[in-house]
Amino acid sequence: TGMFTLDPGFLSTAACSSSITYIDGDKSQLLYRGYPIEQLAVKCDFLEVCHLILNGDLPNAKEKADFNHLVTHHTMVHEQLQFFLRGFRRDAHPMAVLTGLVGALSAFYHDSLDITNPKHREISAIRLIAKMPTLVAMAYKYNVGQPFIYPRNDLSYTGSFLQMMFATPCEDYKVNEVVERALDRIFILHADHEQNASTSTVRLCGSSGTNPFAAIAAGVACLWGPAHGGANEAALQMLEELLAQGGVDKLGDFVQKVKDKNSGVRLMGFGHRVYKSYDPRAKLMQETCREVLQALGLEDDPLFKLAMALEKVALEDDYFVQRKLYPNVDFYSGIVQRAIGVPTSMFTAIFALARTVGWIAQWDEMIADPDYKIGRPRQLYTGADEREVKDLDKR
Ligand code: CMC
Repeated sequence: TGMFTLDPGFLSTAACSSSITYIDGDKSQLLYRGYPIEQLAVKCDFLEVCHLILNGDLPNAKEKADFNHLVTHHTMVHEQLQFFLRGFRRDAHPMAVLTGLVGALSAFYHDSLDITNPKHREISAIRLIAKMPTLVAMAYKYNVGQPFIYPRNDLSYTGSFLQMMFATPCEDYKVNEVVERALDRIFILHADHEQNASTSTVRLCGSSGTNPFAAIAAGVACLWGPAHGGANEAALQMLEELLAQGGVDKLGDFVQKVKDKNSGVRLMGFGHRVYKSYDPRAKLMQETCREVLQALGLEDDPLFKLAMALEKVALEDDYFVQRKLYPNVDFYSGIVQRAIGVPTSMFTAIFALARTVGWIAQWDEMIADPDYKIGRPRQLYTGADEREVKDLDKR
């Protein structure tokens, strides 16, 4: 049956129309609702960008205050969710825990699951954006065996998250402005990226009419993979291993191994399906990295130096040049997070926190479209022709 065109990995098939994010991979261009990422990263905070992605434009001062108030007043999660969390083994990966927690939200917030009602969709979106930092921080505290810390509405979205991560009942966490700004920028840079694997997963899952919490849980699960959001964790592990093996002196050997297709080793944090030039987010991330390390007195961080050296070697190597492989956002984000005290195993969960606004905006765009259909790809069948079932003793 050759009726359908085979396009594994969607190399040339658009699955939807969308007015949220634009990428020109040859020009290193990334726009949210028309605004360049370079300007958003400098002039806006994450909640302004959330408003932009969700509602189509940046908020004015009043809209900003209202939106902040709305998000801030949904940051707590139902106290009973703790019992669900406590059912996990402590050594579980935070992404395993987060997938469960996000899915469980539909069991707690089922007063707003009528997806045909725009008000319900809106409140679910706000709840997800507001509660995600709380859930991520709970997953972390559980993992390290510390008591949960509640959100603080007198702090910024990002400041509140930092204190939920790092404060203890015995000691306040003084939010450092440079650190807060850097993490806020990480959130902005990860907020949306059009039809990447996890967003496409959210759309496909949501296209059956399931509730948004269930659809976003599917997105979290997809993001976990090392070819997608898991790359930030993998990139840092790669750099740490390389450092342990001799660092800059061993760069040549390492790059040689990456180039050997039989080695199965990829340069994590490099390459992208859409960017065939420098990922603009990686450029901003590298700047942030420099700023944070300087502010924390870690200018000589050996990992950052190694990453810069590795980037230089790769960008001058024919293998990478011919294939147009450049650093992506995950190459430097791990170094920033490590510098501010976030353990490697939490990196992808933080990516999920930031991408939630993109996922939910894309889901809402689909559901609001009167012509949307359930996603149901076709296939080219390659199995056996029709045949008879033989009796058991004749098989
Ligand atoms: N290291 C070494 N070789 C690579 C890499 C890499 N990181 N990425 C691509 N290649 C090679 C690949 O072997 C292939 O070579 P050839 O043409 O000789 O067979 C060519 O480049 C094209 O690669 P591909 O796998 O066909 O490209 P893709 O568009 O399917 O994959 C990718 C994109 C991001 C999955 C891939 O580049 C990759 O695995 N990168 C490492 C993981 C990573 O950093 N992911 C993060 C992506 S950005 C943000 C996010 O989603 O989290």
